Amino acid sequence: MPRLVGIGVTGGIAAYKIADLVSQLSKQEDIEVSVIMTESATRFISPLTFRTLSNREVHTDLWQESPGHRVQHIGLAQSMDLFVVAPATANIIGKMAAGIADDLLSTMLLATNAPILAVPSMNSGMYENPVVQRNLNTLRDMGIHILEPDSGYLACGDAGKGRLPDNSAIYERIMSMLQPGNDLQGLKIMVNAGTTCENIDPVRFITNRGTGKMGFAIARAARRRGANVILVSGPSQLQPPPGVLWESVWSAEEMCEKMLGYQDECNIIIGAAAVGDFKVARTADQKIKKSGNASDRITLELVQNPDIIKTLGARKKMGQIIIGFAAETQNVMENARKKLESKNLDFIVANDVTMEGAGFAIDTNIVTIITRDGEIRPYPKMTKDQVAEAILDKAADLFKTINCDI
Ligand code: PMT
Repeated sequence: MPRLVGIGVTGGIAAYKIADLVSQLSKQEDIEVSVIMTESATRFISPLTFRTLSNREVHTDLWQESPGHRVQHIGLAQSMDLFVVAPATANIIGKMAAGIADDLLSTMLLATNAPILAVPSMNSGMYENPVVQRNLNTLRDMGIHILEPDSGYLACGDAGKGRLPDNSAIYERIMSMLQPGNDLQGLKIMVNAGTTCENIDPVRFITNRGTGKMGFAIARAARRRGANVILVSGPSQLQPPPGVLWESVWSAEEMCEKMLGYQDECNIIIGAAAVGDFKVARTADQKIKKSGNASDRITLELVQNPDIIKTLGARKKMGQIIIGFAAETQNVMENARKKLESKNLDFIVANDVTMEGAGFAIDTNIVTIITRDGEIRPYPKMTKDQVAEAILDKAADLFKTINCDI
C-alpha cells in the first residue's frame, strides 16, 4: 500500500526548489504526494506545477467545496504517513508553535496524527532571532522533527544560516522517517565502495570500472535504517549520502589503511569496492616519455596490493560481521565460496558481472548471498537500493544471532 506524504509549501523564495523534491518523491512506486500550499506560496510558484508533478490535486484553500460537503482536509491530514513543511517560514513555525489554525496548512498541521518534519528556510537574521529559535525549540519539545537549514548565500543577498538544505538531504530524511524500523540503530557499519587507483607516473594510473553505485546504495540504506555509517570510497562521481562519514581515498593501500583505522569500532564491515589487486611496482617520479621510435615498448611490472577484506577478516573481533562481494566472470559459486573461506567472511554476495543487469556502473544487480553454513540465496534482478536492503536484512539477522550467542 503506498504511503501518503503531505508536503506543505509556505511562502519563501525556496518554494520553487520543492518542485524537484515532489517530482523525485512522486516517481517512487510506493509513495503518493499531496501538496498543500499557503496563499503566499502560490505567489512564488504555481499550484499547477505541483499538480503536474504530483499528479494530484493541490490544496490551497480552507473553504474549497468538497464532494458531499465532507471536511476533506481533515480526512487528508489524518490519512498522511508523514507531513513535511518545506520551506518552513518563520511565520508557519510561529503558528505551529502557538497552535494557530488560520489557513488550510496550519489547520491540517493541527489535525494530523502523522509525524511532522519542518525544514526551515529564511533570512539568517530572522532564523537567528531568539523568537524563531524559541519557536523551533517548542516544536522540538512537541516531537516535531526539524531539518536544520544550511549556511551560505541567501536570496536576500545576506550570507549565513537559513538556506533550504539540498533536496537530497530532505529526500533522505523523508525516506528514513518512512522506514518502518530503525533496526540498525546503535550499530556502526563501514562500507567500502567504487574503485581504487594505482599511479603509473604523475599523470597516469590504473583503475577499473567500479563507480560506487553498489557501495553508496548500501551506505545510504544503512544510514536510513539508523546505523552510524562510515563510507570509504575511491574516486566517484556520486555524492555521499547525507549523514554518512565519507572518507575519500585514491589507492588500495590508502583504503586499507583507512579501514584498518576504523575496524575496531565497527560492528559490521561490508566490502563492495572493486579494489585493484595489483599496483605498479615502481611509480615513475616524472611523466614517462616516448622516444619517438614507433617500435618502442615499455613494460609495467605489477605487484600485489593488500587484500583489504582479507586483512580485516584476519583480525576480526568477537561479534563483528564482515561481508564481502565476489565479482566473477566464470565458476561464480565455486569462486565465491573460496573467497568466503579464505577471507574469513560471514557471508559473501556473489555477482556474475558478465550478466546483463548485473555488476559495474549500472543501477541494478543480480546477486546470490552465500553464508558460511552453506545457505545459498539467489535473488532476481533488483535495483542496487533493493540489493542493499537485502544484504542489510541478512547482516542484521546474523548480527543478532551471533551476538545473542556470545
Ligand atoms: O561500484 P559499481 O559500479 O556499482 O559496481 C559494483 C561492483 C561490481 C564493484 C560490486 O557489485 C562488486 O562486485 N564488488 C566487489 C568487486 C571485487 O573486487 O570483487 P573480487 O571478487 O575481486 O573481490 C572479492 C572481495 O575481496 C570483495 O569484497 C573485494 O572488495 C575484496 N577485495 C578484493 C581485492 C583486494 N585487493 N582487496 C579486497 O578487499
